Amino acid sequence: MKYPITVYGDPILRKRAENIGKDTEGLAEIIENMWETMYYADGVGLAAPQTGMSIRMFVIDASSGADEEPELKDFKKVFINPEIIELSGEKWAFNEGCLSLPEIREDVLRPDVVRIRYFDENFVEHDEIYKGYAGRIIQHEYDHLEGKLFIDYLSPLRKRLLKSKLNDISRGKVQTHYKIKPPVK
Ligand code: NI
Repeated sequence: MKYPITVYGDPILRKRAENIGKDTEGLAEIIENMWETMYYADGVGLAAPQTGMSIRMFVIDASSGADEEPELKDFKKVFINPEIIELSGEKWAFNEGCLSLPEIREDVLRPDVVRIRYFDENFVEHDEIYKGYAGRIIQHEYDHLEGKLFIDYLSPLRKRLLKSKLNDISRGKVQTHYKIKPPVK
């Protein structure tokens, strides 16, 4: 089942999401639905708040980036109750987009290296270090669990220039090839 995607203006995207337990009912099905939703929307990552659930979980499939970074070939992971332990390395800019901010793309500066502790779909704990494109997507998706969006990193000027687009999105006035959940007013 595909979930409709929540967009800018929906308060759930501004909330800190809650940890979940191993015995969360229907967890395997939720994960399956998140994959299905992400692929159909052509995303490389999807966080639970974007599907209307304020829980600490995101999925990433970065294997499409393997042309440029061969180590991404099998990068397909579920991150549950993640915690960023450390960000380090030099900041670099990447033109980011987000399924919750349709038609907006902006250069965002983020540190290169992220150390993250999380549980996988079998509730096995991992403590790993990622950099490059993988580290970038992880930071973007993790932000969704903290109630943050990539536009929060932009300069006041860039933000001002986006204001009318953002207003349109928050009123559901935006074209997407995937189903969105219009923000509650
Ligand atoms: Ni996003």
